[in-house]
Amino acid sequence: MSEQVVLVTGSTSGIGEATARRFARDGATVVFNSRASTEVGEALARATPGSHYVRADIAVADDCRALVAQVLDRCGRLDVLVNNAGTTRVIDHRDLASASIDVWREIFEVNVFGTWQLSVAAMEALRATRGSIVNVTSIAGLRPTGSSIPYAASKAALNHLTALLAKAVGPEVRVNAVAPGLVDTPWTADWDAQRRFVSTHAPLRRSGAPEDVADVIVALATTSYVTGQVVVVDGGLTLSS
Ligand SMILES: NC(=O)c1ccc[n+]([C@@H]2O[C@H](COP(=O)([O-])OP(=O)(O)OC[C@H]3O[C@@H](n4cnc5c(N)ncnc54)[C@H](OP(=O)(O)O)[C@@H]3O)[C@@H](O)[C@H]2O)c1
Repeated sequence: MSEQVVLVTGSTSGIGEATARRFARDGATVVFNSRASTEVGEALARATPGSHYVRADIAVADDCRALVAQVLDRCGRLDVLVNNAGTTRVIDHRDLASASIDVWREIFEVNVFGTWQLSVAAMEALRATRGSIVNVTSIAGLRPTGSSIPYAASKAALNHLTALLAKAVGPEVRVNAVAPGLVDTPWTADWDAQRRFVSTHAPLRRSGAPEDVADVIVALATTSYVTGQVVVVDGGLTLSS
């Protein structure tokens, strides 16, 4: 991937960080991004040869345009966009009152509208390189599970957006998604009950590592004849629940 430029949103932690590191290890020029953790991002870029860090909140349209402009200014091209940044609120699905419209808006602003507006902002650059997008969704977007109903619905929207966008922007640009199950990141650090459930019910008997998801993101970004697909990366959990 030595000539390739890869932008990974939300890459100062968890799945995004593992993905950015993996692309960098394969020789790509990587752009790290986050909304708040600027010092971590800058340290990652210093420690990863040839990489960059750009702060941007993907929920803000101006930030998305500026992020793409920064990538092109610093790196000259964009080959892969990994839409990984996401947010949630943990709300029992039966607690309807807590899933207020403000919560729905907050989650959709990042997970759906953010992914959409950054993809649109990056499209001209991706067309120029015949590049690709990989969205990070969730098995919560495929099954009636997940940290809250608004979160699960946002990931279902992203799964469908993946197929629709793939149809709209081919043949120049491919668009795929990974749908992780439970992955060990700061986001899920205190999800002990879920981790126990996965280790007893999933055929592969463990929760995922960020690198397990990164492997599939890199595969989808580097293959050439797959588009519009959502690849489940859950150790087989959805086979048994
Ligand atoms: N962990 C799991 O079990 C799991 C399962 C299924 C799907 N996923 C999905 O995987 C993705 C990554 O999750 P993770 O577990 O790796 O989370 P994480 O470790 O909490 O990392 C989230 C990253 O996103 C950044 N971020 C958050 N909001 C942002 C915004 N508006 N703009 C730019 N960056 C933003 C965070 O940095 P700052 O906060 O500093 O901005 C951080 O770098 C999410 O889309 C999540 O829905 C995770």
